[in-house]
Parts: sequence; C-alpha cells; structure tokens
Amino acid sequence: MSETAGFTRAYADAAAKGTANVEDAKAGVKCDHTKTAMVDPTQGLRERIALHLTNKLETSQSKKCLDVGCSTGGDLALLKKALQEKGFETGFEPIGVDLLGAQLPKAQERLPEGKFVEGDVVALPFEDGEMDSVQCSRVLVHIPDMSKAVDEMVRVLHPGGCGVFSEGNFHGSVTYTSDPRLKAVESARDAHILSMIAQPSAPMDAYKLLLARSDVENVRIEDFSIFVSDPSFGMGLVQLKPMLEALVAKNVITQEDMNYYFDTLPAAEEAGDFFKSALMLEVSFDKK
Ligand SMILES: C[S@@+](CC[C@H](N)C(=O)[O-])C[C@H]1O[C@@H](n2cnc3c(N)ncnc32)[C@H](O)[C@@H]1O
Repeated sequence: MSETAGFTRAYADAAAKGTANVEDAKAGVKCDHTKTAMVDPTQGLRERIALHLTNKLETSQSKKCLDVGCSTGGDLALLKKALQEKGFETGFEPIGVDLLGAQLPKAQERLPEGKFVEGDVVALPFEDGEMDSVQCSRVLVHIPDMSKAVDEMVRVLHPGGCGVFSEGNFHGSVTYTSDPRLKAVESARDAHILSMIAQPSAPMDAYKLLLARSDVENVRIEDFSIFVSDPSFGMGLVQLKPMLEALVAKNVITQEDMNYYFDTLPAAEEAGDFFKSALMLEVSFDKK
C-alpha cells in the first residue's frame, strides 16, 4: 500500500481496534461510521442503483443480494424497498460484508432477515457463484489491490447475476466561489484528498478491468453529478475540521486561512457564492 493512502490506513487501524471510528490525524479524517450523513447528496444515485438491481432481479427466483462495504445496511434497505414497490421481494436475501464489524449490528437491526458478516473485499467469505447480485459503493477507492477486489466480487456472482460499483471520481471536484481565499483552501483540500486515497481513479480502473474480462458482459459506465453548497458533502464539520487541521499541520494552509474559511463560509453559502461539484460513476455488468 502507498505510504500516503491515509484513508486506507485509517480503515485498517479501525479494523484492528474493532471500532467503526475511522481516525487519522495526518489524513485529517475523523468519522464515526455508525452515523449516517446528514443529507446524502448521492441518495439519487443509490435509488437509481436499487432500481437497476430490481429490474435485473425481476425474473430471478433466488435473490441473494450482497453489498460489499455495506456499513449500516442503508443500500440493502433501499434495495428491499425498491423490490417491494415492484412486488418482486419474494426470495430476497440481503447479505452484507464489511471490514468494520462494529457497524453490522445497526445493519442487522435495519434488516433483521439479513446476514451480515465481517470480511475483506479482497477475500470474500462466500462460495463461488453464491450471489445473484453484488453491489459495492464508495469502497474500491480505499483498496490497494483493486484487481483482486473485482476478481472476488465477480467470483461470488452466479452466472446471469449482476454487479454494480459506484465510486467518486476524485480528479473531478470543482469549487465555485468568487472568494479566492476560500477557493485556495478548497483546492488544497481537494489535492490532499487525492493524495490520501489509494485509488483516485477507482471507477475508471474498475470499468477497464471489467471490460478486459471474458466472464462478464454488458459492462457500462454512467455518471451521477453532485452540485452542493456544503463542502463536506453532507458529513458536517466533523470531516472538514480535522482535514483543515491536517493541512495547517503540513503548512499547506495557515491557521488564519482555516479561521477565515470557517468564519466566511456560512455567509458565502447563504449568498449562493459557494458550491462544490463532483462526479460519481456507476459501473454495472452482468456475469456470463
Ligand atoms: C465510505 S464507506 C461507504 C459505505 C457504504 N457502502 C456507502 O456507500 O455508504 C466505506 C465502507 O467500506 C468499508 N471498507 C473499507 N475497506 C474495506 C475492505 N477492505 N473490505 C470491506 N469493506 C471495507 C468501510 O468499513 C466502510 O463501511
């Protein structure tokens, strides 16, 4: 693993400690993974994926649906809702796996009929061809051996089963503001995130890996754009503050820049003079 892939290191540390508190001062991350985002700007993409899987699973009697990096089970709950709305819920078996087992009791509470296990995407604790669908959202960016992760997710799929990965494109974030100082802090933050992510091109790389395989077909990539006034994309100050502190510690920005940022941002947001745009990419495929 790259020494600088700080987010991956933070996940590994949390897993070793048996907690869902993902923290790393150098990476500037401090996040309790059992708490959900305040307003999730990717909700529309999550619903689109649930609908895509529902349409794919329509004719399947068996519906063993795996979410890799399932966290507290939100995406499987959405899939259940989408299946129910179309009357296709018969045979639905939600299965979640996550490196941080501390999140799984919440998932189990949400979906009592589900099976939730601790595990790593690069060594999935499931048999070959066991699953009818596999989904994985915002995980591959943290996986140093992404090719192994893709191998594993294809391996556990049944022939005829379907897969969907959704990941952020960390090269594409843009800040819109007339305030050059706010913009400079955001540029520094974007560059820092890029340097701390194991796989900044995860969705494009996953797409290429799938295209090169002979055991999958109908490989597609589609975009979902996010345009929000909240620079934390729904995570709140919990995420922003430790990251700016990490940038101050690295002498990338000054303490005054950080103070200015927190003093000025609310008014800029209020006046419609601060927006971030970012792109999520959804990669889907069917197993032959
Ligand atoms: C950013 S969260 C995304 C959670 C959820 N999929 C979503 O979209 O909201 C990343 C999740 O991946 C999990 N994770 C990180 N590394 C993993 C690995 N090697 N194998 C399985 N899960 C992993 C984390 O514990 C966390 O729950």
